[in-house]
Amino acid sequence: MEECNDQVPKPSTLRWKILRNALLCRSQSDEKSESQEIINRISRKGKGNQSFDLIPCHLHPISSDNFEVEGLTMDACYCYSLPTSKNIDPNLFLFQRRDNCASISDFEICNKYDIDNTGVVCPWPSEEVLSYFCLSHADMFRSKSVIELGAGYGLAGLVIAAASEASEVVISDGNPQVIDYIQRSIAANPEAFGSTNVTPKLLHWNQDEVETLSHKFDIVIASDCTFFKKFHKGLVRTVKLLLKDSCFSEAIFFSPKRGDSLDKFLEEITKGGLRYSMSDKYDDRVWMRHQELMKGDQSWPNYEANHCYPLLLKISR
Ligand SMILES: C[S@@+](CC[C@H](N)C(=O)[O-])C[C@H]1O[C@@H](n2cnc3c(N)ncnc32)[C@H](O)[C@@H]1O
Repeated sequence: MEECNDQVPKPSTLRWKILRNALLCRSQSDEKSESQEIINRISRKGKGNQSFDLIPCHLHPISSDNFEVEGLTMDACYCYSLPTSKNIDPNLFLFQRRDNCASISDFEICNKYDIDNTGVVCPWPSEEVLSYFCLSHADMFRSKSVIELGAGYGLAGLVIAAASEASEVVISDGNPQVIDYIQRSIAANPEAFGSTNVTPKLLHWNQDEVETLSHKFDIVIASDCTFFKKFHKGLVRTVKLLLKDSCFSEAIFFSPKRGDSLDKFLEEITKGGLRYSMSDKYDDRVWMRHQELMKGDQSWPNYEANHCYPLLLKISR
């Protein structure tokens, strides 16, 4: 995924490229009947599914009533093992698309809702880092109301709900397809959230409906949501509207630099009358993994800091 500016292909071009790859991939898979081949294709550890290896997870078998397109089951369920101190089952189930599975309807939805399809492509590495950061700082969410923006499959929101004593977690995105997945993941973890109220929410950063949630949240979180410059203004406006009118409320973003897109977003924060701080060494384990990857660890070929290493951005009033 690239930052969007005049030098890179338009979103529609990228969508068609992803669709073409998915269709090519499908015709290859027709020749593979072995179930192991299917497992290989959807494994997070497979080619193209790089991670910082922070939260152990494995593929979990799912029943046959999953969403299917043209006879192909498109969904996968992953089981994350959370090192949680809450007196609950440490397993967290997350529904998502299988790798490289796209359908024409994805692109129709993108056009209809003025959204990109990055949320259904995969959980991005920044989401893993955000989730891990939230796990490591679970205390900060005690009795807080939290909203995740541009959540994609919503791992971080689910992790906060499962591993902290947050009073409320809203997991939002502007793409209705990922909202369906989030809904299913919430339903798949009925015992995991204790007294924390967890809800999915369709929320586009350019929509006025955000007014109904105005100044309701202590903490806003987001990962890899600053690459799309077209929505910078709307995203800053949304953060400002959602955060409680208190000096203790804050937004926690994890984003790679991605060319000048993060810098442009910082400019927009200042224009919006908010303050921010940035950090690259926010966690020893993530930093060490970053150093290994920079040395050329083969588990993540083509790793480079600009597009892959998420910086921590804290935004406040
Ligand atoms: C790169 S993905 C990141 C998803 C997830 N946070 C992750 O890191 O895996 C960007 C997400 O932002 C959502 N998004 C993009 N533009 C949006 C907008 N204007 N309003 C709301 N959500 C938006 C997309 O649907 C997508 O889920």
